[in-house]
Amino acid sequence: MVDKQALVNRLRDAGQEHLMQFWDELSVAGQAELATQLDKIDFDLVSQLVAGHDDAPNWSELAAKAKPPRAIRLDSAENEFSADEACERGEEALRTGQLGLILVAGGQGTRLNFDHPKGMFKLGPVSNRTLFQILIERLRAIARRYDVRISMYLMTSHATDAETHEFLNRNDRFGLAEADLKVFCQGTMPAVDAQTGRLLLADPGSLAVSPDGHGGTLAAFRSSGCMADTVDREIEHLFYCQIDNPLAQICDPTLIGYHLLADSDMTTQVVKKREATERVGNVVDLDGRTQIIEYSDLPDQYGKRTNADGSLLLWAGNLAIHIFRRQFLQEAAGQAEVLPFHRALKKVPHIDQAGNAIEPASANAIKFERFIFDLLPVAKNAIVIESRASEAFAPVKNANGAASDTPQHTQAAMIQYDRSVLAGAGAEVGPGVAVEVSPLYALDSDEARAKIQPAQRINEPTYFAAPEAATVPE
Ligand code: UD1
Repeated sequence: MVDKQALVNRLRDAGQEHLMQFWDELSVAGQAELATQLDKIDFDLVSQLVAGHDDAPNWSELAAKAKPPRAIRLDSAENEFSADEACERGEEALRTGQLGLILVAGGQGTRLNFDHPKGMFKLGPVSNRTLFQILIERLRAIARRYDVRISMYLMTSHATDAETHEFLNRNDRFGLAEADLKVFCQGTMPAVDAQTGRLLLADPGSLAVSPDGHGGTLAAFRSSGCMADTVDREIEHLFYCQIDNPLAQICDPTLIGYHLLADSDMTTQVVKKREATERVGNVVDLDGRTQIIEYSDLPDQYGKRTNADGSLLLWAGNLAIHIFRRQFLQEAAGQAEVLPFHRALKKVPHIDQAGNAIEPASANAIKFERFIFDLLPVAKNAIVIESRASEAFAPVKNANGAASDTPQHTQAAMIQYDRSVLAGAGAEVGPGVAVEVSPLYALDSDEARAKIQPAQRINEPTYFAAPEAATVPE
């Protein structure tokens, strides 16, 4: 039985008693649900966040003194470690089962106009495979190559959790063993009215909430028992990536090797930015610490600074691919305030005091999110590794028609990548012919060479599937 008066008192103290406005109209079950939702809210934290709107870092000041980060560059003679020694070291770590994968898939595909978890988006240019299948096949291929089991920890959100479970189960987890997949759900944060700081109701019996950002990984990974699972399985490092990038070279041994050779708590894969205003986070050095300044926070004048040879000073674009030392994540998860909240002004549908549904025409509310990359400044020996976008980065963010990061752009990049895998194996792929290679067919040109005929000609769209992965899911 819910103690209504206690709830009212608590909300009154927090200046949020309007949330009880429709209480008497709710069923007993509805009241219990609202009470549970309210119980989980840290109202002191919300008040602090609402009041703290002037606490945001002065990005201009920071950007002015930002320098390029400690990095392993492509084609540089001055790198601390060689790619060969890194690859060898990474392979050894993979072979001995030291790696796990965290895949974050809690965001909603709003910009993509896709009303399901993004992982269900069909992207395979020939096969129509979904993002989930594409990334899981890569993980399985790596595990097969090194003859190990690699656990995947998949983060969902309240918006994507149920459908993700159902979809993965229906498709037998695309071949991943049940024991090697753990799905955990990130937390939520309430949205507050930008004018009044009051929490918004989505309907009479529930708050308007949204996922707490991919920084929510930290708390949810621990509270779900996944962190403990990594300890049980003696996983020492966690490869981290986002669901939106089908070119992500999941558990790439060379990247892992650099992370180990540098004795890094947190390693970040980057690409050289194509232009100053590219919509990627900027990985920089600030007072000797690696840090990311989001594209939206970097004033143009600082983003455009160049070196003597005309190249961008702040060149390193964030792929949102990291490797974490497990112990570092464990320690960070024990410190509640380690990740700051970022504020974003967004359109949030809600009901007004009369109970009418409001679909705002412009941004009306503040959402609070944490970013996982804000762990960088506290990471020991953080290092960034440069890679080629054509080999590692083709995120799908926007619906077709947008200027960048659309399914069409991503598919073109996937085709280009797979054409080079096949060409490297000696195949002759006709001009403009779409090809797609499942990593279970061949992870790279060397594996492909053993399977295709010398000088094999490919003149029509072809999907090179592994026998057991040949079917396309519904
Ligand atoms: C993000 C990075 C940016 C990087 C780019 C690379 C941020 C703030 N910025 O930009 O530095 O260059 O990716 O592609 O992250 N997600 C969750 N839960 C959440 C929010 C997001 O799981 O609460 C996941 C989404 O499923 C998605 C990913 O995180 O896969 C990226 O989130 P998104 O908000 O799309 O970030 P971007 O603006 O694309």
